[in-house]
Amino acid sequence: MRILVTGGAGYIGSHTVRMLENVAEQVVVYDNLSKGHRQAVQSSAFVQGDLFDSPLLAQTIRSQRIDAVVHFAAFSLVGESMEKPNLYYRNNVQGTLNLLDVMLENGVDKLVFSSTAAVYGEPACVPITEDTAKDPTNVYGRTKLIMEQAMADYAAACGLKFTALRYFNACGAHPAGDIGEDHCPESHLIPLILQTCLGKRDSIKIFGDDYPTKDGTCIRDYIHVDDLAQAHVLALQALYRGSASPVYNLGNGCGFTVKEVIAAAEAVTGRSIRKEIVARRAGDPAVLIASAEKIRRELGWKPEYRDIQSIIQTAWQWHQTHPEGFSS
Ligand code: UFG
Repeated sequence: MRILVTGGAGYIGSHTVRMLENVAEQVVVYDNLSKGHRQAVQSSAFVQGDLFDSPLLAQTIRSQRIDAVVHFAAFSLVGESMEKPNLYYRNNVQGTLNLLDVMLENGVDKLVFSSTAAVYGEPACVPITEDTAKDPTNVYGRTKLIMEQAMADYAAACGLKFTALRYFNACGAHPAGDIGEDHCPESHLIPLILQTCLGKRDSIKIFGDDYPTKDGTCIRDYIHVDDLAQAHVLALQALYRGSASPVYNLGNGCGFTVKEVIAAAEAVTGRSIRKEIVARRAGDPAVLIASAEKIRRELGWKPEYRDIQSIIQTAWQWHQTHPEGFSS
């Protein structure tokens, strides 16, 4: 396998690159560093480039004799996507279409695509299977769904072979402790909680405690980033075996409320966390829990990190040693 990883300097990308290095003949990271971190890529070849730079993309694919792409490069903030839809349609849709053209023009037909639970919107029931109705409630989810549909059309007409992986809530950090989550600005629950534990924030704001859940706060399915990385490796191996363009959910299949995540973080860190109940955040569904039975059954994927405390433990190690992220 000779793999190009777009967005390989980002959070999920860098963990996947680390895992691919053990199984692939060549791994080349292609990232414009608008969100990613150069320090997150230590051993693989690195090209600083943009999805819209077709000549550089084509030259990288040809010179490195790439035969498959794992495509992470995208914007992924739900709130921002509602305020700046142009950025999301341009980068996530137009950028991916550009990548597909360059790939196919250069004889690369295999792609693993980062998708999201946001394609489902507010599901009528959980757990969510891949067949659950897709009705995104935000622009980010819509851009990912549009690309899933476009890739299916390319598969039918142009021989593209793709796998779309719909992530639920990615979290945790590499057990080696040298790569982890570093977003600017940070908006995700677990890093914000841990920054509060480190004294970098006064309190954690809980977005609404009047949801129809056991303690009134939203329920999410938290999945360790290394378990996500493992799924990319399995998906690639299946594509090389000739699998037909499947779509898979990636989650642990169990949900935790915001208050339960905070309590788990208090147990892991041994620190008490100041909480503040504030208004609901627009567009947050009450409950998102995955059924990941399909990828278990078809590819044998089995998440290693099954309990929330062990996931938070890896994130805590990263945040303690890198309080300023990669610039620590
Ligand atoms: N939350 C808080 N306070 C915070 C931050 C988050 O209460 O300061 C709550 C949210 O309301 C939500 C939960 O914690 O209920 C998790 O929020 P995150 O922002 O960590 O994650 P999301 O569930 O909003 O989003 C994640 C990914 C998105 C993806 C989505 C799919 O980050 O990219 O899952 O459902 F689209």
